[in-house]
Amino acid sequence: MKGLRAFELVVSILLLVTAAPPASFAGQEGNPKAGKKTYDLMCARCHGSAGKGDGPVSRALPTKPGSLANGQHMKTLTDEYLFTVIKEGGASVGKSPLMPAWGGLSDQDVWNVVAYIRSLAKSGE
Ligand code: HEC
Repeated sequence: MKGLRAFELVVSILLLVTAAPPASFAGQEGNPKAGKKTYDLMCARCHGSAGKGDGPVSRALPTKPGSLANGQHMKTLTDEYLFTVIKEGGASVGKSPLMPAWGGLSDQDVWNVVAYIRSLAKSGE
């Protein structure tokens, strides 16, 4: 009986450990204010300052960026997807390679931008 208890304890500890989220998504709490600075500097030229896909550079792109302000669309996208498409670029998720990879941004910077993008989306649009 004692042996069984110890076994149960080991199993529940193992479950707790394996249920922890993967390390790369640990910093998921993004800061939208910090994200706005990065967005205005690096993303607005294509995505537009309000995320509608109407930045000055977008006119020259054969594949236009969709609207990041479209809540109906944005709610179908997971945070992990947004993180990956920003950090590794459009091609990494089967989208246009004209969406550049922002590998130079730290994971925290990317989560900050994700938080800011989420704040652009309005459900009605
Ligand atoms: C050179 C122009 C350009 C810049 C700069 C740019 N993007 Fe993009 N982005 C695109 C294009 C084009 C697409 C659409 C790709 C497609 O639909 O195939 C895209 C797609 C995306 C998507 C996916 C949207 C969806 O509906 O799947 C996200 C999220 C995104 N960009 C975020 C960002 C962020 C954040 C930055 C700044 C760090 C940024 N982009 C900078 C051109 C750009």
